[in-house]
Amino acid sequence: LKTNLSGGTASALIIDACRRTGINPKELHPVVSDDHYRTLTEAGLNENQIKLSERFPINEVAFVRACLDQLQQRAVIEAVDYPSTNFDTAAAEIETHFKHDRHLTYIFPEEARLLYALAHITTPKRVAFLGSYYGYWAAWALAAMESKSDVALLDVDPSVGSLASENLMNLRRGNGARSITTDAIIFMNQADDESYDWIVLDAEGPKCGLPYDQTDKALYGVMLEAALPKLRPGGLLICHNILLSHHNDDPYFANMIRNNKRQFYKFDQLVRDNFSATVTFPTTEGVGVYRR
Ligand SMILES: C[S@@+](CC[C@H](N)C(=O)[O-])C[C@H]1O[C@@H](n2cnc3c(N)ncnc32)[C@H](O)[C@@H]1O
Repeated sequence: LKTNLSGGTASALIIDACRRTGINPKELHPVVSDDHYRTLTEAGLNENQIKLSERFPINEVAFVRACLDQLQQRAVIEAVDYPSTNFDTAAAEIETHFKHDRHLTYIFPEEARLLYALAHITTPKRVAFLGSYYGYWAAWALAAMESKSDVALLDVDPSVGSLASENLMNLRRGNGARSITTDAIIFMNQADDESYDWIVLDAEGPKCGLPYDQTDKALYGVMLEAALPKLRPGGLLICHNILLSHHNDDPYFANMIRNNKRQFYKFDQLVRDNFSATVTFPTTEGVGVYRR
């Protein structure tokens, strides 16, 4: 029953485990039964992957549409339409040409679609991805952007940076987009003030061994501190892993939410003081969109 899949999307890994064990992924929402839990564990999934599958939207398109409606109501975006045929073409291209090697990404389908839609709707010309990993989330935004847009994929790890470069080339996005191996905090400190339309935050520090505000997602606070003056008024901050609510009181997620809130203490303060709108979405791993 074990999977041979070494890299790819966590979503594909979970769907593959369901297919091999005859489980309909839609049955995993809102709660994975004990039987399914045991079967999926035997199929090679870990606890986090099984628990996250409880959060898969039943209908990805409708879910993203509801997110966009909410952003429009909050005056974060002015329109909600994006071209679904172009999205399908982009998805097929990413599926075919994007290389994961041994890496696994926890960007889930609705999170990819939401970023694509936001890029189409808000047409950012200058974007920085802080903690871009090997470029998977960026690939979805790039698919909806003009090829001459200035897009910096910043990651401190050279091995994921070179894979991101390869992916930009494979997706023929070499023009305005580049992958840079650097500490994103240093890069943003040196950038021009208010020159970015979007800052996308998905960096993650080591789980321990450093001062608390440089570990795990607590890093968002110091990263935002550096990036904030570079985001133009009206620009968007878009963050992954803003998981702050769950559809029931499951202790697994209650613990995760408590830990996230603790890690985001500095980030939250900066957001409260500097952004006119804050909208968070219960995507599989949580996404936050903030208007400067
Ligand atoms: C593992 S990714 C996050 C994964 C992402 N949520 C996904 O599922 O695809 C976080 C990245 O942040 C990067 N990172 C950590 N500290 C950084 C820093 N100071 N500057 C730039 N990148 C950093 C790590 O190297 C790592 O590639």
